[in-house]
Amino acid sequence: MDNILKFETVELDTEKKELVIIDQTKLPEDIEIIRLKEAQEIWDAIYLLKVRGAPAIGVAAAMGLYVLACSIDTDVTDVFLAELLKIKDYLNSSRPTAVNLSWALERMYRLAESMRESTVTDILKALKDEAIAIKSEDIAVCKAIGEYGLALIKSGDGVLTHCNAGQLATCRYGTATAPIYLAHERGMNIKVYADETRPLLQGARLTSFELSSAGIDVTLICDNMAATVMRQGKVQAVFVGCDRVAANGDTANKIGTSMVATAAARYGIPVYICAPTSTIDMNTPNGEAIKIEERPAEEVTEMWYKHRMAPEGVKVYNPAFDITDNDLIAGIITEYGIAKAPYDKSLKEIFNVKLSKKR
Ligand code: MRU
Repeated sequence: MDNILKFETVELDTEKKELVIIDQTKLPEDIEIIRLKEAQEIWDAIYLLKVRGAPAIGVAAAMGLYVLACSIDTDVTDVFLAELLKIKDYLNSSRPTAVNLSWALERMYRLAESMRESTVTDILKALKDEAIAIKSEDIAVCKAIGEYGLALIKSGDGVLTHCNAGQLATCRYGTATAPIYLAHERGMNIKVYADETRPLLQGARLTSFELSSAGIDVTLICDNMAATVMRQGKVQAVFVGCDRVAANGDTANKIGTSMVATAAARYGIPVYICAPTSTIDMNTPNGEAIKIEERPAEEVTEMWYKHRMAPEGVKVYNPAFDITDNDLIAGIITEYGIAKAPYDKSLKEIFNVKLSKKR
């Protein structure tokens, strides 16, 4: 089997004007690269989790918007912008929780709108460059998060992670896995416990796959085993990703994260949220204001099983994300440093640093 880390999670074929992704629903069995250029197939790829993980969704949406913009059939800038807005809104409706989706689409659209006096050809060129820049930034951001996170662990530590916040959820390194990859590169010995992550098994299918491909010591556990490995002293820190961090530090991440954080608090284990600033939404005041995606019942009752595992007609509740309360979080690791409680103050400071670096 090829090493999954050699493949690009998301790519733009600038010649053919196609969005190129690994179909993550086929992993770990098959590494299938798919090429997308229709609006419906890009929307489906995001909704069906062929491409998933907040940063990767953002990059795919930006590249997808550019690909679709290339087939808007007009030379009139105002007509072009009106069409682009419709496509942006359509792609934005594919998943509600990961803020990177709307963040990347807004960034692309605002750029196009700021060029209202330019030709369509010039706007298309700018959109292509912007989509490529969003991807390069993601790689640099993940590396910076990795460096900050690395300072929080030492050789011999056990780290627990939930879902997949790895390379497959970003464009390289991942967020929660970045400190682990950097530790491994520098010869440190870190043992990772990967929750399998019901119902879509991102931990089993993706995290344990990519970490073992990299030669990292990873042990797969069922979600209901996390408290046990913590109680046994096998875990010194929890690193997870996020889909949206509110201004007060409350964090939406894959369903089960808040249960992990609650157990970690019981055993005195720090929980770190690895968060690119593109995933921090200062316009959302707290966790209550975050829209949580609900997904089809079949993901719980039959998906991945040979036979349905629940009685026909049983009521199913399938929220894809949960909110970890800010008081369960030891630190929010961004590319500009680590924010600590009180988060309403420290996250503002992180954005001030970001602004000052841009000047
Ligand atoms: O439903 P998914 O697989 O898109 O959920 C992914 C997660 O919850 C990740 O932890 C999060 O997006 C951060 S990825 C760096």
